[in-house]
Amino acid sequence: MTKRGIFICLEGIDASGKSTQARWLVRNLRSRGFDAIYTTEPSKGEVGSFIRQYVLQRKRRVPAVVEALLFAVDRVDHVESKIEPALESGKIVVSDRYVYSSLAYQGAAGLDINWIKQVNSMALPPDLAIYIDAPPEVVLKRMRRRKSIMETFENQRRVREVYMQMVREERLVLVDGNRPASEVAQNILAMVLKRLKSV
Ligand SMILES: Nc1ncnc2c1ncn2[C@@H]1O[C@H](COP(=O)(O)OP(=O)(O)OP(=O)(O)O)[C@@H](O)[C@H]1O
Ligand SMILES: [Mg+2]
Repeated sequence: MTKRGIFICLEGIDASGKSTQARWLVRNLRSRGFDAIYTTEPSKGEVGSFIRQYVLQRKRRVPAVVEALLFAVDRVDHVESKIEPALESGKIVVSDRYVYSSLAYQGAAGLDINWIKQVNSMALPPDLAIYIDAPPEVVLKRMRRRKSIMETFENQRRVREVYMQMVREERLVLVDGNRPASEVAQNILAMVLKRLKSV
């Protein structure tokens, strides 16, 4: 029987470096002989594509409840169609955003965090959830253009607060993202290798 893989997710506010780090992590793990895959939320499936179009690329935000429910549906689809099969075949799955993004973004938009947890109760818990922290002033400088409707300064600040609360609750492990990307990558790799040794 194949040994089950490991599920890692990377979280953070917009332009904190999630995609950069997720891709580096996959590359670093592969170069050490591990079978690792990159995946992202919203997913590449039909619900994920719908979210990109209907939620992220429009002028006004849809109600936060609609966002939360759509992301929860996409997550079920993402886990069933991509994450779970990869874990069953022994792969390391690195997801660029996961359930904590729903808690942070829709929580920051005023929804009850416990309700968001409930609608995501079917979501597979990750083995390691990393939060890449960077201040809104820093990430706004990194953004060349405003990519989505979520990215205002005040919103970033509120989203960061919810993430930091989850760090204090030890649901997320903090990595300082306000450093050169290569340093952040070393830090994340060390954490993941440690986690891999413990299984
Ligand atoms: N540690 C870093 N220091 C400076 N710039 C960085 C760092 N990490 C990433 N960047 C740059 O910041 C920008 C955003 O990075 P990236 O796309 O990885 O962020 P993200 O968290 O995935 O953003 P989004 O939420 O929009 O998907 C890119 O131009 C990237 O090259
Ligand atoms: Mg990204």
